[in-house]
Amino acid sequence: MSTIPTDINWSSLPFGYLKTDYNIRAYYRDGRWSKFEKSTDETIPVHIAATALHYGQSCFEGLKAFRCRDGKIRLFRPEENAKRLILSANGIMMQPVPKEIFIEACKEVVLINEKYVPPFMSGASFYLRPILYGSGGEVGVKPSKEYTFMVFGGPVGPYFKTGFKPMPMQLIKDFDRAAPLGTGMFKVGGNYAASLRASERAHGEGFNTVLFTDAKDHKFIDEAGPANFFAIKGNRYITPDSHSILRSITNMTLQQIALDLGMEVERRHIAIDELAEFEEIGACGTAAVITPVSRMVNRSNNNEYIYTMGGEAGPKTQKLYDILTGIQSGIIEDKYGWMVEV
Ligand code: PLP
Ligand code: COI
Repeated sequence: MSTIPTDINWSSLPFGYLKTDYNIRAYYRDGRWSKFEKSTDETIPVHIAATALHYGQSCFEGLKAFRCRDGKIRLFRPEENAKRLILSANGIMMQPVPKEIFIEACKEVVLINEKYVPPFMSGASFYLRPILYGSGGEVGVKPSKEYTFMVFGGPVGPYFKTGFKPMPMQLIKDFDRAAPLGTGMFKVGGNYAASLRASERAHGEGFNTVLFTDAKDHKFIDEAGPANFFAIKGNRYITPDSHSILRSITNMTLQQIALDLGMEVERRHIAIDELAEFEEIGACGTAAVITPVSRMVNRSNNNEYIYTMGGEAGPKTQKLYDILTGIQSGIIEDKYGWMVEV
């Protein structure tokens, strides 16, 4: 049993990088994947002509491990992340990481850094960041012949500093994170680079994050910078259907939980004007978990939509949150087998 670090205050952890003991690396060379190796080094040697640096051949995943009520540590739906990394890799012509290697590497990273997995119900979790990038040198615009797959992880708190308290969000039409037929559905680094100017401006204007609209007409809601969007209207859970948003695993999970609660689930285009009709709205994702939205401001016309519930989450959002986090911490039965023991 490893010793628990005494200098970490689990309940006040931010969402950020914290050095742990080990990370994992594997290399694709000469047509096959190497066995993965353990490293204590936080840095990587990179070829000066690596396609990741020049042409953006880089994609990643984000998933969490939880210390559950029975003391065991479990990953939340790692198979879905493995599948999405394959989708992203194929989307930008990279060598995909086989599902088995992905899951084994994730389990191993948790096990070798076990002392950094936050205690049961501490409000924190162990966040894993698998990354795949083109590490071979090319000067012409073409896919790399070599790839590096790495997984690191560390303990984190909530992504948005409000945690589960509602936050303000800004809807924008003058920046797009991805083109209509572009890479929005893949978890590639370039999408996040494209979102930075809008996000930083929104922070400067007093908002926690932005809500992007569809890049073709800017009439429909797409997603937030680091999370999907959902809304509640009556007994309905409504979330955007768009070619250019990430298929959030948290959102997929919430849709199932909503169905199990007897709610109707709608995945469809959502016109901006519908914001006036929703009772509750929020952002969802691995890092964001569920973060309710208190106020949405459309930056292009200053229309403001208020979703105040005395500064708290709305009742349906609260229910979804309690069930999701209850399953993740092992308090609520995991009837779909979403939790995978490491
Ligand atoms: N949308 C974007 C752009 C994201 O970066 C993320 C985070 O992974 C999500 C949505 C949520 O996806 P997931 O629930 O799979 O973490
Ligand atoms: C996640 O939720 O895992 C993300 O990757 C979102 C963000 C931190 C980029």
